[in-house]
Amino acid sequence: MAEALYGDGGFYRAGGAPGRHFRTSAHASPQWAAALAELARQVDQLLGEPVDFTVVDMGAGGGEVLADLAATAPARWRLVGVEIAPRPGRLPARVDWTDALPVGFTGVLLAVEWLDVVPVDVVELTEAGPRLVEVTRDGRERPGPAPSLADADWLQRWWPLESLGDRAEVGLSRDEAWADAVRRLTRGLAVAVDYAAVPARDLGGTLTGYREGRQLLPVPDGSCDITAHVLLESCAAACDDVESVLLGQREALGRLGVSAPRPAYGGDPTAYLTALSAAGEAAELLDPAGLGAFTWLLQAKGMRVDGMMGG
Ligand SMILES: C[S@@+](CC[C@H](N)C(=O)[O-])C[C@H]1O[C@@H](n2cnc3c(N)ncnc32)[C@H](O)[C@@H]1O
Repeated sequence: MAEALYGDGGFYRAGGAPGRHFRTSAHASPQWAAALAELARQVDQLLGEPVDFTVVDMGAGGGEVLADLAATAPARWRLVGVEIAPRPGRLPARVDWTDALPVGFTGVLLAVEWLDVVPVDVVELTEAGPRLVEVTRDGRERPGPAPSLADADWLQRWWPLESLGDRAEVGLSRDEAWADAVRRLTRGLAVAVDYAAVPARDLGGTLTGYREGRQLLPVPDGSCDITAHVLLESCAAACDDVESVLLGQREALGRLGVSAPRPAYGGDPTAYLTALSAAGEAAELLDPAGLGAFTWLLQAKGMRVDGMMGG
């Protein structure tokens, strides 16, 4: 998975892969960036508007959110995109673009659909016990060795395999990646947004592929995205002494002012169409069968989450 996504010629090495192959909240509507801007504004206020307030977008993709923030955020804010792919051509100059997370910043760490593409191993319960699933570049599978002790401990705690053929993705790599990212935030809010894994529901695991808008077998040859839902509870637990809140995207966006009521026609066709289109975009962000099913993990350092988002 690591080679297929991030190695030479890997799926994410070429710029613009997310926008070309699948649809995230950032592609659905500018209301997404506006909601994140509102979230950052609340954090900025709670922190007392520090001179070095920084918004870091980890796994910034095509830079869509940062481009929108660049147009509206106070000049005092520093905006940083962390991305393996090259800097998008039309990104405003005030946005920094780097391939490594900054160390020690104050502000907001955003990670939207990042953790689901942090490589994981798949483990299946076989007659010989839990075995790593090995896969060739063209997608053929066979049982491999037993998982490491650390992986086995993680599975036992977070995603126990019960019946023959059950599969799980070992989230230890995500826990470590998230804990490392949160450690770099000195003061402020860390926000991870992703499809949540639910072990009691996801008995066969969640690993899947995407290419040009279609879901397909997750073949590790660099031609498609390979993604697996995220066990956000274990990511939260990996960060010591940090207050955590888990929220559904519908609720989180609702608290940040995104709603999708059908507009009333007031006699101005252009205004009506604009309002209708905004309501349609909001409905996509809130759709319980789509993006609205995402989960937000909020973790605060040096501030309280419950003072935010109307909480
Ligand atoms: C699924 S895309 C999401 C993009 C964007 N956040 C959005 O919501 O549209 C994940 C992005 O994370 C980037 N990424 C994954 N691991 C990374 C890492 N360790 N450092 C920088 N970028 C990373 C990938 O290159 C990819 O562009």
